[in-house]
Amino acid sequence: MDERTAALIEKLETRHFLTLAEYESLIGYMIEKPASDRAKRTSEDESPTGHQADEAAALLAEKASAVRQRVYGRDVYIRGLIEISNICKNDCYYCGIRRSNHFCERYRLSEQEILECCAQGYELGFRTFVLQGGEDAHFSDELVCRLVGQIKRNHPDCAVTLSLGERSRESYQRMFDAGADRYLLRHETADKAHYEKLHPPQMSFDNRMRCLRDLREIGYQVGCGFMVGSPYQTARTLAEDLKFIDEFHPDMCGIGPFIPHQATPFAKEPAGTVELTCYLLSIIRLIHPNVLLPSTTALGTIDPQGREKGILAGANVVMPNLSPISVRKKYELYDNKICTGDESAQCRHCLEQRMESIGYHVVTDRGDVRGWEDSKQVGYERNA
Ligand code: 5AD
Ligand code: FES
Repeated sequence: MDERTAALIEKLETRHFLTLAEYESLIGYMIEKPASDRAKRTSEDESPTGHQADEAAALLAEKASAVRQRVYGRDVYIRGLIEISNICKNDCYYCGIRRSNHFCERYRLSEQEILECCAQGYELGFRTFVLQGGEDAHFSDELVCRLVGQIKRNHPDCAVTLSLGERSRESYQRMFDAGADRYLLRHETADKAHYEKLHPPQMSFDNRMRCLRDLREIGYQVGCGFMVGSPYQTARTLAEDLKFIDEFHPDMCGIGPFIPHQATPFAKEPAGTVELTCYLLSIIRLIHPNVLLPSTTALGTIDPQGREKGILAGANVVMPNLSPISVRKKYELYDNKICTGDESAQCRHCLEQRMESIGYHVVTDRGDVRGWEDSKQVGYERNA
C-alpha cells in the first residue's frame, strides 16, 4: 500500500478521526481497486492494485480487531430481532416492503405473538429484544408503550430496542418513558442530495436528522447507519457518512451491503460488496472503539461467511431472527434474505457455532455500550 494510505490508517488509529478529504481518500483507495484488474495497466496509473487495497483492508481489520479486543474482548452480543410489521407508509426506492410493492404480502404481529417471541427468546438466552417494523400507524404510541411496558415487566433484566422509523419527538419521549432503552434509525446517507435519490419527495433528510437528534436528547442509546454500495453512493458520500458518525457519536451503527430487491425501482442495480462493507466496519471501529457494531444479516446474505468476516473486521454484535417462521419470508427488504426458514433456536445455535468457529463467544448479557469511564482505560481520547 502507498505511504499516504498507511499514514491515514495510523492517524485514524491514534486520533480516532480524519478530515472529510482524508476519509474520502481512504475509501477511494478501496473503491478504485478494480483499476488493478484492467488488463492494460499503464506505468503512470497511480490507482491502487487489488493487492494494495487488500493490504490496506487487512491492516485496518488488524487494528480494528485489536481495538475491539481491548474494549469487548472476544465477546459477541446477540440481539433478538422481532419483525413486528411489514406494513409501511413509505416508499423508499431500495426497500422490498415499500408501499408500492403490491407483490408483498402484508402482515402485522399481535401483542400476544410479540410477547411470545420475547418469552421464547428469553429461554434461548436473549437479553435484548429489537422490535423492528415498517412505519405502520397501527403501532400507535399507546400500543407500543403497552408492549414495551409488558416486555419489561416480563423480563426486567432485558433491554428493549425499537426500530420503528420516523416519529414525533413526543412519541419517542413516550416510548422512552414506557421503558424503551435503545432506538435504531439508520440515517441511510449523510448527503442530502444522495438521500433524495434514494427516497421519494415525501421523505425528508432534515426530518430524519431531526429524529436522530431528538432520540439522542431524550436519552436513548441511539443507532444510525447506512447501506454500503447503495445506488449513487460515491467515495465522497461515504466520507460524509463517516464524518457524520464521527461527529454524532452513535452508540450503535448498522451497516450492511445494499442488495437489490426485484420488485423495487433499484431491481437492476448491483449489490454492495463484502470487501467494502468490512473495510468500513474496520474504519468505524477505529473511529469509535466502544461502538456496538453488528455484523448484519445482509452481509450474511451476499456471502455465506459474511457475518464471520464482519466480526473479524471489527464488528461485535449479531442479530438473529426471532420472528415467527410464518412471517419471515414476508419481511423481505432485499432478495434472498437468509434465515427465513429457520426456527429461532436454529438461528441462535447456528450463530453460536459460527462465532466459535472463528474464536469468538456469544454472550447473553444485555450488552450495553461501554461507557466513557471504561473507554478511558483503553486510551481512547477523542481530542488527543
Ligand atoms: N438492501 C440492504 N439493506 C436494505 N435496507 C432496506 N432495504 C435494503 C436493501 N435492499 C436496510 C435499510 C433500513 C434497514 C432496516 O434495512 O438501511 O434502514
Ligand atoms: Fe439463522 Fe444461521 S443464523 S440459520
